Amino acid sequence: MGTEEQGGQKTANKIEPATGKLGVMVVGLGAVATTMIAGVEAVRRGLAKPIGSLTQMGTIRLGKRTDNKSPLIKDFVPLADLKDVVFAGWDIFADNVYESATHAKVLDEKTLTQLKPYLETIKPMPAVFDQYYVKRLNGTHVKKGKNKRDLANQLITDIRAFRKTVDRVVMIWCASTEIFIEPTAVHQSIEAFEKGLEHDDIAIAPSQIYAYAALSEGVPFANGAPNLTVDTPAMIELSKRNAAPICGKDFKTGQTLMKTVLAPAFKARMLGVRGWFSTNILGNRDGEVLDDPQSFKTKEESKLGSLDYIFQPELYPDLYKNLYHKIRINYYPPRGDDKEAWDNIDIFGWLGYPMQIKVNFLCRDSILAAPIALDLVLFLDLAKRTPSLRSIGIQEWLSFYLKSPQTAAGLYPEHDLFIQSMKLKNTLRHIMGADLITHLGLEYYD
Ligand SMILES: NC(=O)c1ccc[n+]([C@@H]2O[C@H](COP(=O)([O-])OP(=O)(O)OC[C@H]3O[C@@H](n4cnc5c(N)ncnc54)[C@H](O)[C@@H]3O)[C@@H](O)[C@H]2O)c1
Repeated sequence: MGTEEQGGQKTANKIEPATGKLGVMVVGLGAVATTMIAGVEAVRRGLAKPIGSLTQMGTIRLGKRTDNKSPLIKDFVPLADLKDVVFAGWDIFADNVYESATHAKVLDEKTLTQLKPYLETIKPMPAVFDQYYVKRLNGTHVKKGKNKRDLANQLITDIRAFRKTVDRVVMIWCASTEIFIEPTAVHQSIEAFEKGLEHDDIAIAPSQIYAYAALSEGVPFANGAPNLTVDTPAMIELSKRNAAPICGKDFKTGQTLMKTVLAPAFKARMLGVRGWFSTNILGNRDGEVLDDPQSFKTKEESKLGSLDYIFQPELYPDLYKNLYHKIRINYYPPRGDDKEAWDNIDIFGWLGYPMQIKVNFLCRDSILAAPIALDLVLFLDLAKRTPSLRSIGIQEWLSFYLKSPQTAAGLYPEHDLFIQSMKLKNTLRHIMGADLITHLGLEYYD
């Protein structure tokens, strides 16, 4: 009993209320982060709607379909109100959020001018950065320390100072994609990691130093990039020990969102797939960073996983065994943040007859990512206040938002967007003591 499949179970409802200010510490005040921050302020002022944000616009069905009970999610679970959200952050450039948003060219000048007095007040703290881990960047607004331990301590000092001004704190990584790093001995336990910090172990990238600082302070941490960051035994252990929920990795925004919608449809109908070729052009700073082969490798690994897990070729060798999956990302400055993605999908049906599907998504990268970043911080704050979630480490129910969801050791991730959506909503019902929804529905025909 008590598994995720069991419907109708009740749990103790002792979620702490979301009273007071929620401090959101953002690592990397670039395109995604500034679009989120400016967007939150625009919504607070009634200038725009929080489109794309499940926490702000989504509803959740409770009880039977005939009950007609579908409150807003934010009215059902105690989430921080946007008016109580306070932002702080770090970046390797000293530009304030207004300057950085202007540079990112995601939001128009009119909107940014309206928000300017507020956005100018958010100035980044000096970052922990090392160009070895992001080859295409070179910033000057950077902390100096005698070793990585010292740098972690400086971040802890920043967190403590900010914490004095708010009631609760969460952290989110919206900074650049680092080079591909595989877990080593240093990632296997908290002790090994702490020794590694002392010895400047090369396998400890800046993102891991931020994560260590956050989790040491009991601060939840979300990873919006495909970096290793919190996806190691050491960080999972620290997360559990200090009741600091974690989730990652890599915001699921454009092409992978489409993949995890389409692939489950093919599989549900037992249609085969021979090949899936995905290519992208984008011209923002993220695109420039991903132009470096080592950062691209990190992104590629994150994007590749979804199809294999959804199609389960070992269960369906006739349909998916030899699927050829290729992903390309090309840096193309004229497009800025307006990413264009193409997918060519070679499928086959009855008796093996081939067909093709073409998807051409002309998206806006940060417009898609900003509401995801917002939802993740609000839900992590909820997890921190929820007794049954706060000490379990990985919040798999947030995989809905992530390209390469973190899971418990030995557990394959669910990539299917609709399974992820059901998991998220059932988790909310579960923590509130409401009946889970199984979609069985036989009772309507009694
Ligand atoms: N926009 C999307 O659709 C999307 C989707 C999935 C993942 N992501 C990831 O989100 C991240 C942010 O994307 P973006 O478009 O905002 O990129 P961006 O380049 O505009 O912003 C990243 C910011 O992080 C800063 N930075 C780099 N290293 C840092 C460090 N160690 N400490 C503090 N700041 C640091 C950079 O100076 C920059 O301002 C990237 O890793 C990207 O791959 C974005």
